[in-house]
Amino acid sequence: MAAPKRKASRNARERRKKQVAGGLILAVVLAITLGMILYLNQPVRLELTGENRFHVGDKVMLSDVVKGVLNGSLATGDIQLDSSKEGTQDLTVTVKNRMGREMDETVQITFWQEDFNPVITAPDTLSYFIIEGQSEKKAAFDPLKDVSATDEKGKSYPVTVRGKYDLTKEGEYKITYVAASGDGQTVTKDAVLTVTVVRSPFDEKGEMMDGTYKTAKGFDLIIKGGIAYVDGYMIVNKSYTVPNGFSSTGDGTRSLTPETEAAWKKMHDAAPAEIRGNLTIRSGVRNIADQTVIFNNYVRENGLEEALTFSARPRHSEHHTGLAMDITTSSTELASQQPAKAVMDWLNENAWQYGFILRYPEGKADETGYIFEPWHYRYVGEELAKTLYNNGDWITMEDYFGVDSAYKN
Ligand code: DAL
Ligand code: ZN
Repeated sequence: MAAPKRKASRNARERRKKQVAGGLILAVVLAITLGMILYLNQPVRLELTGENRFHVGDKVMLSDVVKGVLNGSLATGDIQLDSSKEGTQDLTVTVKNRMGREMDETVQITFWQEDFNPVITAPDTLSYFIIEGQSEKKAAFDPLKDVSATDEKGKSYPVTVRGKYDLTKEGEYKITYVAASGDGQTVTKDAVLTVTVVRSPFDEKGEMMDGTYKTAKGFDLIIKGGIAYVDGYMIVNKSYTVPNGFSSTGDGTRSLTPETEAAWKKMHDAAPAEIRGNLTIRSGVRNIADQTVIFNNYVRENGLEEALTFSARPRHSEHHTGLAMDITTSSTELASQQPAKAVMDWLNENAWQYGFILRYPEGKADETGYIFEPWHYRYVGEELAKTLYNNGDWITMEDYFGVDSAYKN
């Protein structure tokens, strides 16, 4: 009875063995299959040569940009790239993985104009004048003003300046203009910057002295009869005064100069009806006594420090000259109010055509000495007004001429 029992258990053992072996084989087959699938589907990656900038017109093949494909291959053959246009382009490359599944990869390549040969237009000599005793704030000096680099096709290139110079020390400084292409080529032009100390037009008490001087930007500054003229334009600001007893007409009366009056009328008549109705002079000429009352009132109301940011001390107000006026609506004073804003906007865009400048533009208090006054216009004539309007990006008289606006006493 014992023998058949043993036989039966042997058979069961055999079956289990076979089952285990079958399971193992299945597991191995599954693992291999999975491994194959993973291997075949590994993410494709383009291997680049690192070359991605070429000259326009060059013969550039795909193989110049793409070295190979990791975990796959290129779906297209080696093609020639379009190098006819300057600029950066997205190059789309179709690749396939080991399963043959196609997908697009993008590479950026840039073509540069080969004929980089610009001419730098720049002055050979530049001047900067240090005015003895002038306030800390030096006139803005931009060595790149009026400097450009253009090739024969009219294409412009950025220009920078190399060389050290010190605007606080007299001397001759060699500087070099450098125009650069995007792909590292450069052309240069040398220039000499001369920094000169010139005598101050102010005496030790801060009063102007008659004489002929230079501004920081090299304009002629003539002080005659206690009045400052730069390049022929009268300058009145925190630095430059009118003399005691000054009257714009010379006879003690108060009126705009004839040129200012005529330009104002011309502008007023030319304004569109809805503006014209609101275009009035709220404050034109003020004599020194008027300004004393106004300034003292502001000091009382706002304190000296604040008053100085928007009101001129007597003798320092442009309103003495008959060339300046506060233009606003008769009913509203503040530019933020709707009718006034429309008037201010119109003036801002059009006054230059009649010879007026926005005298205290926004954000230029460092130059003019005063915060933004959208209503204060100054007659300078059409030529200078156009220059200072600067297509809407107003340049101040102080910056343009290289004079400061800071009390000397
Ligand atoms: N508000 C200007 C600066 C003046 O008082 O003349
Ligand atoms: Zn004013």
